[in-house]
Amino acid sequence: MDSFSTVIRTASHEQHTEAETSTFMSDLLGGRLGVDAYARYTEQLWFVYEALEAGAERLASDPVAGPFIRPELFRLTALERDLAHLRGPEWRAGLSALPATRAYAERVRECAERWPAGYIAHHYTRYLGDLSGGQIIRDRAEKAWGFERKGDGVRFYVFEGISNPAAFKRGYRELLDAVRADDLEKQRIVAECKKAFALNTAVFRALGEEFPLSA
Ligand code: HEM
Repeated sequence: MDSFSTVIRTASHEQHTEAETSTFMSDLLGGRLGVDAYARYTEQLWFVYEALEAGAERLASDPVAGPFIRPELFRLTALERDLAHLRGPEWRAGLSALPATRAYAERVRECAERWPAGYIAHHYTRYLGDLSGGQIIRDRAEKAWGFERKGDGVRFYVFEGISNPAAFKRGYRELLDAVRADDLEKQRIVAECKKAFALNTAVFRALGEEFPLSA
């Protein structure tokens, strides 16, 4: 039987491709959009990580989600530095969530408060992605808009506390494999992971509508 980390990865593979090749992501990473689109995307991430990390302290002592709560993953401070760089010191005043982002953050908050195993699905979908493809996004962003390497604007993608991402991801998969949930609950986590990908894709779709390419 496949390990749980393999099951969750395989189950979300198709949606990963969909997210990766969404029009907005392709245009953004293809250098066809301005830095304002990147800033707008970064703002949306702020709402998602605010929801993920606001409940983290309480979840740290939860028997199911607790082992996943690792301060070296926290992204909110990095996002806030990026936004200050992208939008200026008054970045908070102009911050607004797209409806799709609000729905995503709301679902994360709901899981954080009521369903720790479901929270793991959201945790995995974001942080393991950031540690993987996030590095490709950082590289493209630095080149497209001239951010300092690993500096302001792309700090979200820089995990200062994780010197070996590959080793960290291996450890993370071990945590997934050891998750304290029965088979039915594991199926529910996988379903929530697919939902997490769909919520991300919906945000990309909304961003794509806000930043269409003028042909
Ligand atoms: C253009 C955008 C993206 C690129 C280029 C990209 C690329 C990658 C790459 C190269 C990996 C590593 C696969 C491996 O370890 O063998 C990965 C893994 C992952 N990505 Fe993405 N990705 C993108 C977008 C996303 C998005 C939007 C999400 C979800 C929000 C996501 C979630 C994940 C997850 C959860 C993993 C870990 C899979 C696992 O090993 O269990 N990615 N991505």
